[in-house]
Amino acid sequence: MELKNDLILRAARGENIERYPVWLMRQAGRILPEYRAVRAKLSGFKELVETPEFAAEVTIQPVDLLGVDAAIIFSDILVVPEAMGLEYQMLEKSGPWFEKTIRNREGLIYADANIDVLDRLGYVLDAIKLTKKELNGRVPLIGFAGAPWTIFCYMVEGRGSKTFSESRKLLYTDPELAHELLGRITQVTISYLKAQIEAGADMVQVFDSWAGILGTEQYAEFGLKYMAMITDAITEVPITIFSKGAITSVPALARLNCNTVGLDWNMDVSEIRNIIGETRTLQGNLDPCALYSTHSEVEKRTIKMLDSFTSKRHIVNLGHGVYPDIDPEKVKTFIKTVKDYEMR
Ligand code: CP3
Repeated sequence: MELKNDLILRAARGENIERYPVWLMRQAGRILPEYRAVRAKLSGFKELVETPEFAAEVTIQPVDLLGVDAAIIFSDILVVPEAMGLEYQMLEKSGPWFEKTIRNREGLIYADANIDVLDRLGYVLDAIKLTKKELNGRVPLIGFAGAPWTIFCYMVEGRGSKTFSESRKLLYTDPELAHELLGRITQVTISYLKAQIEAGADMVQVFDSWAGILGTEQYAEFGLKYMAMITDAITEVPITIFSKGAITSVPALARLNCNTVGLDWNMDVSEIRNIIGETRTLQGNLDPCALYSTHSEVEKRTIKMLDSFTSKRHIVNLGHGVYPDIDPEKVKTFIKTVKDYEMR
């Protein structure tokens, strides 16, 4: 299937583009009433994720309703720990919850690396195939997975946390166990991303949402090491790595075998461009909270960000996922401003 809009793929590869591509992390779901309407018909989040017809429908909604330059498959990073043996629940108010956790050697029975992803995660692969068919080449489809460190955090902690201190504790009390678990997660993640590409994903992104809670040295040992295995293994399509909060590790991230480095809103685009040069595409990084301001302010801040770009190697996005109570009209203003912007 020929893509009618391949801007984001060209931007990722550092090829020529006529304007900057734009999409939003967490664009599917959350902010759209149309998403909530589909969700309300179902028993919950997991039914939506596990039913390819519904997952495809909500994946395509932001393409139709917001006009983004890419779709991201509707799923969650937590499907990987579940496939390995730790079932999760998505609680209405508090978010993800795992009945079992891995805090010692015995816990490793819940982290099986020798699984068949085609079987365990077949529902995601079916959703990708169906979405590709329904998109009919309109925009590329992004596949994704959580980074080993972030998945490790959920497997050890069993829920969200501000500090993930149980997870960080293990790095001091049993680093060997930590490495064993991170290695297993990495192995499954690589097969899973390859299966997504095989099913039709045009590019992939690895989300390291909790990168920022580690110091530079620990992130190198327990984060980057495993990120590098993933970026070395994925050669078929462009790959983006997004390590939220890992400001001091950005130069090291940019040395990995990736096409694109995602930046959060605390990171200074021009500073990072100066450090890493033109060899990587940068993605980001407007503060999601900027979308709470007025339409004219959203426009002004978006233009200010675009003006700070000194290269064509950019994919426009927010600095993290869009917040659930953002007015979709503000998102449209953000997108329109990017699309109308004349590249220098
Ligand atoms: O548009 C998209 O990006 C859709 C696909 C997507 C979801 N989760 C759907 C989802 C993606 C890429 C994710 C990634 C994800 N999931 C991350 C990494 C990105 C980030 O935000 O840092 C993380 C840490 C998770 C784990 C997770 N899933 C949490 C902590 C929660 C609860 C809080 C929240 O974010 O809403 C989820 C639930 C979840 N995943 C929802 C959606 C649309 C909301 C659930 C609902 O509809 O009830």
